[in-house]
Amino acid sequence: MSAKDAGEATLQYGDQSITLPVREGSEGERGVDISALRKETGLITIDPGYGNTGSCESAITFIDGEKGILRYRGYPIEELAEKSSFLEVAYLLIHGELPNKEQREEFDLDVTRHTMLHEDFKKLFGAMPKSAHPMPVTAAASSALATFYQEPETAEMMERAVVRLLAKMPTIAAFAYKHSIGQPFMYPRNSLDYSSNFLHMMFSVPCEEYEVDPVVARALDLLLILHADHEQNCSTSTVRMVGSSRAPLFASISAGISALWGSLHGGANQRVIEMLEQIEREDGSADKFLERAKDKNDTTRLMGFGHRVYKSYDPRAAILRKACEDVTKRMGGDVGGLLDIAMRLEEITLKDDYFIQRRLYPNVDFYSGVIYKAIGIPVNMFTVMFAMGRLPGWIAQWLEMRRDPAFRIGRPRQIYTGETERHI
Ligand code: ACO
Repeated sequence: MSAKDAGEATLQYGDQSITLPVREGSEGERGVDISALRKETGLITIDPGYGNTGSCESAITFIDGEKGILRYRGYPIEELAEKSSFLEVAYLLIHGELPNKEQREEFDLDVTRHTMLHEDFKKLFGAMPKSAHPMPVTAAASSALATFYQEPETAEMMERAVVRLLAKMPTIAAFAYKHSIGQPFMYPRNSLDYSSNFLHMMFSVPCEEYEVDPVVARALDLLLILHADHEQNCSTSTVRMVGSSRAPLFASISAGISALWGSLHGGANQRVIEMLEQIEREDGSADKFLERAKDKNDTTRLMGFGHRVYKSYDPRAAILRKACEDVTKRMGGDVGGLLDIAMRLEEITLKDDYFIQRRLYPNVDFYSGVIYKAIGIPVNMFTVMFAMGRLPGWIAQWLEMRRDPAFRIGRPRQIYTGETERHI
């Protein structure tokens, strides 16, 4: 389904005038198609941060930031969170439809049977310092998959590459963690589901098997579902941009992981916990911290608040707030009072004029960190967890771009503001 014609827009500049087609998507979103602008007028558009730029047509994820709506392939996130597993959601994003029973079983089995890493691959972890943050280790390892597996040439090979990525990412993530703490790598176990297997590889040691609590495994699965796609954003657009040069899937995903690392994007979940811990250490006063976040002379930001697209409550944060209470209760109380501080921060922020005027609400990262902390995931692994969750979205977006007959290499323009010609 591609966007349909929805009239025309006219741009007047000096004595030049150009009529540009307007395109409309299936949810009524409209965009002016400026692809003829430069050729016809010599003008380009300026849009720092791409806040008004539609870089592609996509049939994967729909967000209405005003109303707080998120749907994958048409299904509301709330329904998927309640009724589906992460692998079903991954299948939905990548294939466009939820799997039937046979497809689900086949997909689960396929992913389960590709979780091992080549034995030589382990040396890669050993080559990196133990003090390394697991995020660049994960990015490097994802990129290194391209050295172990050939660039897929047929649809069948591509399907295999997709399964490999989904299957091996939790193993890579867990190995990155085990390396950082100097413990032996734990091999995957085929009897476990996706999330339970990850918990096993993270927390089992050869002398003691980690007993997976189904409530914890379900909470992890939920987190992965909620992160699985979010239409165009810094990391996803990076994956598309890198892939647009015909770079291989594994390399494009590695670039997405690097883009996700930053504290304004996926790194925010780590920063949320650091912020809550800082508040707890100082005197537990959420109110005082809030004042700093509002002060223009202070660079402090309230991490886990605000979003480029959501101008109302992030629907994922609403689901996670509830899950957070359930998980912390199950794990025997609040994680050192952090949930209390988070809830107090949310309460006062939602009544504060500064945040109301700027329409800043909790985003997905505000509560995810508290859940990760409650289930024992170390803080420096939070963003890696996000990457594991976002993986099917990146894959689906990459495939959609590469299958689009009209795809072109990404190549924005600029307005040059440097020196004009000069000579030595
Ligand atoms: N705390 C305090 N003030 C904020 C915050 C915040 N968390 N977020 C935005 N503001 C203020 C800005 O200072 C600005 O104020 P001004 O108009 O007086 O200058 C106004 O709100 C608009 O903010 P921008 O930075 O222009 O908004 P933008 O859309 O560019 O940024 C972003 C969105 C990066 C998410 C921002 O809200 C932020 O930094 N939040 C904290 C980091 C975070 O939680 N990131 C995770 C995002 S979700 C994700 O990637 C999964």
